[in-house]
Amino acid sequence: MATWILNGLVWNETTGETELKHIRIAEGVIAQIEDAAAGRPDTNGHDTIDANGKLVSAGFIDMHVHLREPGFEYKEDIASGTRSAAAGGFTTIACMPNTRPVTDTAETVRYILDKAASAGIVNVLPYAAITKNELGRELTDFAALKEAGAVGFTDDGVGVQNAQMMKDAMKLAASMNMPVIAHCEDDSLVVGAAVTEGKFAAANGLKGIPNESEAIHVGRDILLAEATGVHYHVCHVSTEQSVRLIRHAKQFGINVTAEVCPHHLILSDEDIPGMDANWKMNPPLRTPRDVQAVIEGLQDGTLDIIVTDHAPHSAEEKAKGMLLAPFGITGFETAFPLLYTRFVRTGRWTLGFLLQRMTSDPARVFGLQSGVLNVGAPADLTIVDLENEREVKPETFASKGKNTPFGGWKLFGWPTATIVNGSLVWSEQ
Ligand code: DOR
Ligand code: ZN
Ligand code: ZN
Repeated sequence: MATWILNGLVWNETTGETELKHIRIAEGVIAQIEDAAAGRPDTNGHDTIDANGKLVSAGFIDMHVHLREPGFEYKEDIASGTRSAAAGGFTTIACMPNTRPVTDTAETVRYILDKAASAGIVNVLPYAAITKNELGRELTDFAALKEAGAVGFTDDGVGVQNAQMMKDAMKLAASMNMPVIAHCEDDSLVVGAAVTEGKFAAANGLKGIPNESEAIHVGRDILLAEATGVHYHVCHVSTEQSVRLIRHAKQFGINVTAEVCPHHLILSDEDIPGMDANWKMNPPLRTPRDVQAVIEGLQDGTLDIIVTDHAPHSAEEKAKGMLLAPFGITGFETAFPLLYTRFVRTGRWTLGFLLQRMTSDPARVFGLQSGVLNVGAPADLTIVDLENEREVKPETFASKGKNTPFGGWKLFGWPTATIVNGSLVWSEQ
């Protein structure tokens, strides 16, 4: 049984233009790509999906998300999180281990994989913790976690404070050809602050989170990556100093890659409207100068990929206010429209540049087969309406988390259908 996706607008990297194509998918892979100009193919007996001139892209890949299960199902669970991912056009996501229990045993890795398989919506790649309970005291059993299906090691949510612990983790991960993914934050430089050092903190008499709390770990870990040879991947880069350090490390051929989130590319601390916890995430929104630096870092290849850091929380938790609420915002269902509207429609980036950072680049960085629209690649595809403007309505999110600073924004670039492994897993109502 095959499915034809007809009249899809496909980005051609060689010409830098879009072209209308018919795409046949069969047995979970892309089987055929034809010029639409050659006429309608013989679809007799096959399913068809008419893309009607909408964009058809390789499905988006998000290598940094929080699905909250096990343990925090009131915030999100694997079923709601993967549905939200599909609604955002994502077909593969990698979930962070700050669950309860922490994903620090083979059993919990398998639990997540089983739940994701039974939800059957998008591909879920679990990360496992570097240290037991993410407490920074004792390494987890890397071999058993890898064997169970973990795709990398990270203590996301917190930084690994002890340099020797991080070095031991990197040495072990390198010996197993596994990446170490780091939430960079030095606790001794963060003293219970909720927002960055900058104008918003000053205007409101708040303590701020300094840029060095992130960049010190980036610098330390780059040196440790050089010493151990591990693939070191930096989470959610938010500061000018981190971009500088990563750029320098890449010039020296150190095996470092990095990610950036839509909110750090689009918002600064000066956009925060007031003491509203929907603007609270970690790392925090930084200064306009940092925003400029992460944009330039992405543009010159210092930062490799875009991730959402989808971090749903309940309305009750976020209602505690800027100082007491947990860090994090939801990301899946606004990521592509935000970036497309802000950077592509304005002519600052080509459509191809944005698509690559959300598809082929994450696949390259993490060695995945997907992320390309080629014959033989997995049939993970996203169909996107580039022409109709719509308002962000958090109450309509498939995610349980409605915590976003982007409510009410008018955006273009809304996903309308998502296909994973050849099956339609989500489509616009
Ligand atoms: O904003 C964040 N939310 N940053 C983190 O590091 C953790 C995450 C969460 O788990 O909510
Ligand atoms: Zn983090
Ligand atoms: Zn995170």
